[in-house]
Amino acid sequence: MLKEAASYSVANNKTVRLVQITDPHLFADPDAQLLGVNTAHSLEAVLNTLNATASPADVMLVTGDISQDYTDKSYHNFIEAIKPIGLPCHYLPGNHDDLRLMNLHMQGDNVHGHKCIYIGQWQILMLNTTVKGSPGGIMPDTECEFIERAIATASDKHVLLAMHHNPIFVGCLWLDNHWMKNGDEFLAWVSNFPQIKGLLWGHVHQTIEETYQGHFGNIKLMATPSTCIQFKPKSDYFALDALQPGYRLLDLNADGSILTNVYRVPGEHFSPDKDAGGY
Ligand SMILES: [Fe+2]
Repeated sequence: MLKEAASYSVANNKTVRLVQITDPHLFADPDAQLLGVNTAHSLEAVLNTLNATASPADVMLVTGDISQDYTDKSYHNFIEAIKPIGLPCHYLPGNHDDLRLMNLHMQGDNVHGHKCIYIGQWQILMLNTTVKGSPGGIMPDTECEFIERAIATASDKHVLLAMHHNPIFVGCLWLDNHWMKNGDEFLAWVSNFPQIKGLLWGHVHQTIEETYQGHFGNIKLMATPSTCIQFKPKSDYFALDALQPGYRLLDLNADGSILTNVYRVPGEHFSPDKDAGGY
C-alpha cells in the first residue's frame, strides 16, 4: 500500500457512494460575502440539503478553493461546518488555497489530506494541479508519476482522479484561460490506463458531464457547482449564473461504472450580485 493512503472497507462488491463539494470560498469572517453571496451560509445550505435528501455516503471529497482569504480561520470554519455531516472528508488544494496553511489547519478527526483513498473496488487519487501565484493549473510530472505508481500498486482497482482544475475547455473563454494547461496531453496519457474510469474537478463553478473516449473505453469527465457563486456557462466574459449552489453524488460500482448526479439547494436564497464585473 502506498504511503499516505487511507483505507475504508466496504462489503464485497458494494457500490461506494461519494459526495463531492467544491469551491466553498470561505472567509475568516462568517458574515463576509463573495459577490453578494454569504459563502458560509451557502455552504451550510448545501450541507443541509445533502443531509435532507441523500442516502448516506461513505466519504466526502472537497476539491479545492476552500478559502477565499488565505486565513487559518477560513479552514477552521470549514471543518466546523462539515462536522455535523459526520463523514470522513478528504481535501485537495485549489488556486485560492494556501497549501501550507491547509496542511496546518485542515485538521480534525474526520479531515484528511491523503493523496490515495482505497475504498471497495476503487482507489481515489487526490491530485494537486495548482501553480503558485496563478489562477490556472497544470498536471505536474510528479503527479503523473504518483498516478502511475498508485495504479501499479493496486492494478486490480478502478481509479477515480480528483483535482481542482479543468482538463478540458468548458466553453467560457475567460475561465478557460485558467484551465489545466496540459489538459489535452494529460487526458491522452490517462487513456492508456484501463483502470481510470473518471476525472472529477471543481474550479469552473458549474456542472459539466462529458465522456472522453479512452483507448480502453469511456472515461467520465465531471465538474461540479460551487457551494457559493455559480459561473454562467458558455459565456466569453465573466458572468454569474442565478442557479443555486449544490453538490454532487457519485456511485462507484464494483464493475467500474459510475452513476452521478448534481443536486442544488432548493429555492432562490442565494442570488449573486449580477453586476459584478470580476472574480
Ligand atoms: Fe473557485
